[in-house]
Amino acid sequence: MQKLLITVLLCFAVILPSTLCDDSQQNISVQDLLTYNKWKLQHQKVYLNEDEQLYRQSVFLENLAKIKSHASDTEATYTVGLNQFSDYTQEEFKQRFLNINLSQRSTPLDVSGDQPRLLGAIATSIDWRTKPNVLNPIKDLGQCNANWAFGAVGVMEPFNSIKNGVLKKFSEQQLIECVHKAGFTSNGCQGGFLEDGINYAIKYGIVQSSSYPYTASTGIVKNCTITSPTSPSDGFYPQSFQKVAQNSLALKTALNLYPVAVQIDATNWSSYTGGIFNNCGSTTLQDLNLYAVAVGYDAQGNWIIRNSWGTTWGEKGYIRLAAGSTCGVLLNSFYITA
Ligand SMILES: *[C@@H]1O[C@H](CO)[C@@H](O)[C@H](O)[C@H]1NC(C)=O
Ligand SMILES: *[C@@H]1O[C@H](CO)[C@@H](O)[C@H](O)[C@H]1NC(C)=O
Ligand SMILES: *[C@@H]1O[C@H](CO)[C@@H](O)[C@H](O)[C@H]1NC(C)=O
Ligand SMILES: *[C@@H]1O[C@H](CO)[C@@H](O)[C@H](O)[C@H]1NC(C)=O
Repeated sequence: MQKLLITVLLCFAVILPSTLCDDSQQNISVQDLLTYNKWKLQHQKVYLNEDEQLYRQSVFLENLAKIKSHASDTEATYTVGLNQFSDYTQEEFKQRFLNINLSQRSTPLDVSGDQPRLLGAIATSIDWRTKPNVLNPIKDLGQCNANWAFGAVGVMEPFNSIKNGVLKKFSEQQLIECVHKAGFTSNGCQGGFLEDGINYAIKYGIVQSSSYPYTASTGIVKNCTITSPTSPSDGFYPQSFQKVAQNSLALKTALNLYPVAVQIDATNWSSYTGGIFNNCGSTTLQDLNLYAVAVGYDAQGNWIIRNSWGTTWGEKGYIRLAAGSTCGVLLNSFYITA
């Protein structure tokens, strides 16, 4: 890292003949630097000062090297590439976008769960994306670490549309600003628990995002000025939700009813661009750090997961996870039941 920084400094602080910055000598290629500049422009990255810019550039180049080495792995079932996260180290990515404060949970995680029941047999595959008026376009939580609120809204929206026949957008910002004020542990952009978001909506209702738009910040603009829908038809009041038992059949069965909130370890997800992701260790409950929404499974049992990192991440905002409890996907999932 030290050496890389110095090299990059040399190549940019003064104008040297490009041969001096040749990769054969310095291990940084002009091609890679051009890739960085193009990426920086495309993602409109603005840095505080030159030091930060050089640091980000060196992180980017390290990530780029990892991406290239993954591309040469012929066994890989998924692809990686550049996206909005490419100038963060894995540790920074965790700090900024994953829910790493789960030790603050006030009550222990419930390890049991229900085996949902269907009248008929479960489908061999299901994909809620193909059903009209169930899912909103992919959202982007930006710089606010509130995947708990996006996960909660992510299951309330499809439940409401399946039950009431109207697809609405609900307000993550209301949960971000109001849930803590209402006495729950979850705390806006600092992180939180999906269960708090749904429990809040059961009690106070959730309004549409048009009346409480997303600002990606904790309460500076509205500071929880709206607490309930003006009329029941304006927002949504869920009545109950249930934890799904920790097995594939239970999650599949629940998915035949509605999209299901899942909690996963997304530590290794930052550069995922497509395919069946399987690069997770043996995840335990304590490792789970991202709420997302399962929207289906294919005939091989791979899970289709909807994320809130915009459409520039993954498969237009989605990821497919290998069958089984990949990244802990079976450990802590919930669906709304009424
Ligand atoms: C530069 O890369 C080559 C192989 O790509 C490697 O053998 C060499 O050790 C690297 N040099 C330095 C100084 O890191
Ligand atoms: C985790 O909690 C600490 C202390 O409460 C806080 O400073 C930090 O911002 C939180 N981390 C995230 C990612 O929200
Ligand atoms: C937001 O609420 C807090 C108290 O919870 C208060 O101290 C602060 O002044 C309020 N900010 C705005 C912008 O209304
Ligand atoms: C991330 O990937 C590495 C291998 O590249 C693996 O060893 C590790 O267990 C994975 N971490 C998590 C949290 O899944």
